[in-house]
Amino acid sequence: MREDKKILVMNGPNLNLLGEREPGIYGSESLGQINAEIAERALALGFACDFYQSNHEGDLIDKLHHARGEYNAIILNAGAYTHYSYAIRDAIAAIRVPVVEVHLSNIHARDSFRSQSVLAPACMGQICGFGKASYFAALTAVAEIIKD
Ligand code: DQA
Repeated sequence: MREDKKILVMNGPNLNLLGEREPGIYGSESLGQINAEIAERALALGFACDFYQSNHEGDLIDKLHHARGEYNAIILNAGAYTHYSYAIRDAIAAIRVPVVEVHLSNIHARDSFRSQSVLAPACMGQICGFGKASYFAALTAVAEIIKD
């Protein structure tokens, strides 16, 4: 069991509007509903899970900094910041907490600007294109990363 392990699930801009935002791309479930399922699955895997969402780049960076010493791993959907925020990339690189990048949609099969992630080189890996199951897959990956 991993009761002593804690992970943070972070979501960036516009993800608070999940459910009503472009449902054909992002699905019809709210962020709250998805988070509830993530929490259940995290519990089944034996670790605790906190959630954070912000529409502001600096707030996301502050949260990454504060994760030092608090969390064993982070699952991050940085929304559109993924494609251009060198500041978030630097924050990920600055902390020793492993970060898994996730996206609901397949960012490689959409607008060309979305296929680049400036965050990916600083992350453990990237999971995209599986809807909410991208977060579930990230949980499984994180469980492996933090098991020892
Ligand atoms: C997203 C993909 C991004 O390109 C977009 O800006 C989002 C959501 C996803 O989860 O598919 O806000 O990160």
